[in-house]
Amino acid sequence: MTENIYPISMMTRADKEQLLGQRGVMVWFTGLSGSGKSTVALSVERELHRRGILCRILDGDNIRAGINNNLGFSAEDRRENIRRIAEVGKLFVQTGIVTLACFVSPTEDIRSLARQIIGADDFLEVFVSTPIEECERRDVKGLYARARRGEVKDFTGVSAPFEAPSNPSLSIDTSRLSLEESTQRVVDLITAHNTKE
Ligand code: ADX
Repeated sequence: MTENIYPISMMTRADKEQLLGQRGVMVWFTGLSGSGKSTVALSVERELHRRGILCRILDGDNIRAGINNNLGFSAEDRRENIRRIAEVGKLFVQTGIVTLACFVSPTEDIRSLARQIIGADDFLEVFVSTPIEECERRDVKGLYARARRGEVKDFTGVSAPFEAPSNPSLSIDTSRLSLEESTQRVVDLITAHNTKE
């Protein structure tokens, strides 16, 4: 339904990036619920903010409480969840903002949709590879216990699939690395991308 739609020409991404003195990028964290995606992203945001870099976090629980509050966890709804997030995230990236997206995004298909919408040059995939045993041991939200009892259906890792990324920009296992180490690795990845032409 793009008929009769005429996008206006706005100031460019380059104008915005020059104003901010930084390069926009999407850092896409994928991994199981409880793997540590948001914890690491929050810590990365704090560190980059300290260095004078403007960031924006997009996180499953927040986005699903707002713009995506009409979506559930069927394969179709997850795809629509990720499609909208990628479109919104692209607006931030094109404003020159370092955007940190924390979503389970459980399949290669869904993540490749996000990459395609945002553009491969602006997309860094971070696999938070913490094993399910550890995510389930943490069970911060009590959802694994409920999923095992059959009270939450289509729960990723229990009754719905998670496909590990085949070629992520970075993998971090938060059961083996400290928060400081994980943060440093992601910050290094972003810095390397920022300084690359
Ligand atoms: S995604 O699969 O569509 O990318 P998203 O990251 O937005 O998922 O939301 C995942 C969060 O929703 C989890 O961290 C968890 O708190 C909550 N949640 C509730 N039900 C489910 C479910 N069936 N599967 C996965 N996560 C769920």
